[in-house]
Amino acid sequence: ETPDNWVNRNPELVRLTGKHPFNSEARLGVLFACGFLTPAHLHFVRNHGAVPQVNHKMSANWTIRVHGLVEREVTFTLQELQENFPVVTLPVTLVCAGNRRKEQNVVHKTLGFSWGAAGALWTGVYLADVLDHVRPIRRQAKYVIFEGGDNLPNGPYGTSQRLSWASNKDKGMLISWAMNGLPLEPDHGFPVRVIVPGQIGGRSVKWLRRIEISDCESQHHLHFWDNKMLPTQVMPDQARAEKHWWYDPRYIITELNVNSVIAKPDHNEKLYIDKTPDENGTIASYLIRGYAYAGGGRRVTRVEVSLDHGETWTLGNIEYPEDRFREVRHQDSFYGTLDATERDTSFCWCFWSFDVSHDVLASCDALMVRAMDEGLAFQQRDMYWHALGMMNNWWFRVAIHRTV
Ligand code: MTE
Repeated sequence: ETPDNWVNRNPELVRLTGKHPFNSEARLGVLFACGFLTPAHLHFVRNHGAVPQVNHKMSANWTIRVHGLVEREVTFTLQELQENFPVVTLPVTLVCAGNRRKEQNVVHKTLGFSWGAAGALWTGVYLADVLDHVRPIRRQAKYVIFEGGDNLPNGPYGTSQRLSWASNKDKGMLISWAMNGLPLEPDHGFPVRVIVPGQIGGRSVKWLRRIEISDCESQHHLHFWDNKMLPTQVMPDQARAEKHWWYDPRYIITELNVNSVIAKPDHNEKLYIDKTPDENGTIASYLIRGYAYAGGGRRVTRVEVSLDHGETWTLGNIEYPEDRFREVRHQDSFYGTLDATERDTSFCWCFWSFDVSHDVLASCDALMVRAMDEGLAFQQRDMYWHALGMMNNWWFRVAIHRTV
């Protein structure tokens, strides 16, 4: 029995932690088969406590208070948000900072790979429009703090953004009530949440109740005690004991770093190698496939595959399904405009492939992938280990074992 056992959950979601809170994701193969848009019931879930129980009647009365260093404090119902601001839909890939953390512990545990990335269409209003409306007080206001409605042992979940980013529409931050054209699922923040494209999932506050414009960043417990990349020298015990590491603003994680994964072949997948040439003398080939993403609106500009442990690299082919969504427009006020037309930023994962002939594959004992983004940041050979095991983006490897 858990406090939120009333929530309907798909059995394809694999639990990553104990029974409660609910933390889960689909297996990589299942996730990858869905392609660019992950259905809500297979989208990974990261909760820190019980899901607030909100029925549809309560959702109509749900309010979001916007207050603090503003000229005009306002409390919005969902309907007021929908009626007062342009409604937009953006394709956004959410990724948890704890993504690929299991690899950091792989020597001790081999539970497989925890990923925690998923793509969806998110509908809402721009946070920038709402901020324009409440008019932050110039020179005093520096941060926008978001607070969720979940009750955690150390108070509600909350975090913040720099006001300069939050007021920039190009950053794409949304107050969102729909995912893939349907009201949010309870696990994903019903009735309303924040969506922060290009940043770690932890910044996208669910069950949004309050927005405060402030001169300092969020003081919420998890804003400090989570989502940090502490220096590698700081061991977990030391991190727990010495508060100052957490309060150092330089270690906060905001934007995602560039990352890529091999999904085909999956770990533990069986490959059947056939080196016999067909009547034209051609040997069959295998399409290695996967996805990649970067943060901060930066596009992945190259994906490279190595079949010889990183000695040599070959370019993979990349597709950006996000670009197809730039053409679509909805008139319906629920969906809003699919707003990617003018955008030159990228908020979604892309999909790469690399064709390799069976005879080459037969001589490999590992496949590796690495990606680069348009800021020329790229994945490194070595892992940057740190106490929280977040933002792990060393070269992604799949080992190949031979059975005859
Ligand atoms: N918002 C609230 N109110 N409570 C939470 O526990 N978890 C955060 C973020 N927003 C969380 C939250 C984390 S760590 C992540 S990665 C994303 O929500 C996950 O969003 P999802 O469950 O919709 O995938």
